Amino acid sequence: MRAFIELFKYRFHVHPINRIKGAFTKQIWLADWKGHQVIYVNCSRTKFKKRCLFGITRLEQLQGPYVTRLIGLCHDKVEMVAMYYKHGSLRRLDQLLKQPELSHYNNIQTRLQLSVDYVKIMNYLHNSPVGILVMCDAAYLGRLLSQFLITDDLRLVVNDLDYTPDVTQENGILCHQKKGLGKFVAPEERWPNISTYSYDEKVDIWKLPAVVESLLDGVNRSSFAKRELRKMMETCHATNPEQRPTANEVLQELLRVQQLIINN
Ligand SMILES: Nc1ncnc2c1ncn2[C@@H]1O[C@H](COP(=O)(O)OP(=O)(O)OP(=O)(O)O)[C@@H](O)[C@H]1O
Ligand SMILES: [Mg+2]
Repeated sequence: MRAFIELFKYRFHVHPINRIKGAFTKQIWLADWKGHQVIYVNCSRTKFKKRCLFGITRLEQLQGPYVTRLIGLCHDKVEMVAMYYKHGSLRRLDQLLKQPELSHYNNIQTRLQLSVDYVKIMNYLHNSPVGILVMCDAAYLGRLLSQFLITDDLRLVVNDLDYTPDVTQENGILCHQKKGLGKFVAPEERWPNISTYSYDEKVDIWKLPAVVESLLDGVNRSSFAKRELRKMMETCHATNPEQRPTANEVLQELLRVQQLIINN
């Protein structure tokens, strides 16, 4: 049974409080729903409705521990109500963990767990029930991190699935068609290679070292963890995408290092 409600019947109970983001594709509001703080997302701009509906449908298809919790949705109006994650996006992690009430969580254990969660989510997307999904809205690190939210207990969910094409359905994908992308993206994603290739989920694997490095930064034993992970991270940067590991292989290595940290 679907755990969320058909929003069109209940939308009059949703009262926007303030706008979190008058974003490019969507309006994101903190709202009140029967005394609960929730997020209300409205995709009213005609130009982006299709893309936004795609994202909402993906969230619906992938409901579970790895994605933002949906409360209600309305396909016709391209609106949804979702759980409000007060800690915000992964992009804010450093600021968040500097806050006095959370600073005691700013340690290698928390940061390794977030790295494990990130790679688990990638593994889930690459083996999802609706195809091999690639996180395409990720041309630079900050952009990629902004697609993930931090839960109240400092775990991770993926939130923005608007641009997650299926490799199998589209016989290879093409995320960007622009010049000037830096080394954060895989060689096959960069100009002029993009004119000759279509590519697959291994573009996500290329980005893993930069993400994990940023998550592990700046705490006691960061260098130890990074040293232990170095070999695996190097293989993520194989020029030939086929030689890069799968998300699951990276995950096993992260779990090994997590165990080392726990035991020492
Ligand atoms: N459920 C939520 N709880 C808390 N914050 C949220 C939630 N949903 C979105 N946000 C905040 O809004 C930001 C943007 O969300 P999202 O990635 O879905 O929009 P976007 O489509 O990328 O916006 P843009 O149109 O700029 O590309 C997130 O990074 C996060 O800070
Ligand atoms: Mg986004």
